Amino acid sequence: MVQYYLRDFSDQDIPTLVAILNAIWPDEPTTVAQQEHWERTYPADNPRLRRVAVAENGQVLGYGECQRPFWSSRRDSYEVFVAVNPSWQRCGIGQALLAAVMPLAREQGICKLRTSCKEDADSAIRFLERAGFRQIGIRFESALDLTAFDETPFLSIQERVTAAGYEVITLAQARAEDPDADRHLYDVYAATIVDVPFPGEDRANPSYNDFRAALDSPQSSPDAIFIARQQGKMVGMTSLELLPNGIAITGMTGVLREHRGRGVATALKLASFRYLRAKGYRETRAHNDTANPPILALNQRLGYRRLPGWLVWEKVLGN
Ligand SMILES: CC(C)(COP(=O)(O)OP(=O)(O)OC[C@H]1O[C@@H](n2cnc3c(N)ncnc32)[C@H](O)[C@@H]1OP(=O)(O)O)[C@@H](O)C(=O)NCCC(=O)NCCS
Repeated sequence: MVQYYLRDFSDQDIPTLVAILNAIWPDEPTTVAQQEHWERTYPADNPRLRRVAVAENGQVLGYGECQRPFWSSRRDSYEVFVAVNPSWQRCGIGQALLAAVMPLAREQGICKLRTSCKEDADSAIRFLERAGFRQIGIRFESALDLTAFDETPFLSIQERVTAAGYEVITLAQARAEDPDADRHLYDVYAATIVDVPFPGEDRANPSYNDFRAALDSPQSSPDAIFIARQQGKMVGMTSLELLPNGIAITGMTGVLREHRGRGVATALKLASFRYLRAKGYRETRAHNDTANPPILALNQRLGYRRLPGWLVWEKVLGN
């Protein structure tokens, strides 16, 4: 049996945490620079409790956290997350970390916890069931093979969008013309992200600070954020996260209500695919909720294939 103890997380643990996360999810790797960025930009007053499990030789074996979900509009549950180095799973470490971080919710007067795990992660599913969580939803994930993508069938949509007076530019181009481009883009983002359904009746709680943190992240680039404009006004956007392994993830695609149903999102996505192909990316991914038919239909038409999704879980805390 492995001997370990729990202590608070510190910034020095970031490289080990990154190694653990990348061992668990190798196809969507994170980096030390990315995690250090999230540390620097984390909302200072947000309740959060973090612990690591450490072996006697000092090696960090696992990580646990409980926090108020500042990105969400839900107020009655906290988010928990536990990850254990695959070589040290099934030794009770996950259970110990979860037990150590859960009390934060109760201390803050919250009696529900939420978390998520991959649909094909049998150990995580067993772990969460054993810990008293029940599944409340799933968020689909899908991937498009950019090396095989043919835009020809979509060019007529693109022409229709151009004929209707829309143009697609990058954030870098928008910034060159307008010192307030980031603010204007945020207005489109904030007006559209609240329409995205998340599992468990969840909705986003947009804030300019969180939006800025994502814009300034090492995985973001002003050349990889595409904006639709009509008569000089921003009306839609799609953003990309650029991973170090040739895979990109669409962060958010949104079109203002009065401009929907005209092919604007398709034109934005085509522009993003062109950029990715020119930069040598081989795959782009999307994380969409099951209850979001318009974007699922759009992605299906573009040729995305389904990957294992993210199951969302909830636990009601006892007295
Ligand atoms: C989920 C995870 C954190 C569990 O960590 P762990 O240290 O291996 O879990 P524990 O050893 O504390 O397991 C506690 C109980 O969960 C269940 N369990 C965990 N892994 C299991 C597996 N592979 N098969 C069957 N049951 C399992 C068992 O009931 C186990 O108790 P037992 O060993 O006495 O039977 C780990 O698998 C992981 O890091 N997964 C990836 C990250 C993730 O998806 N996190 C889930 C969201 S919080």
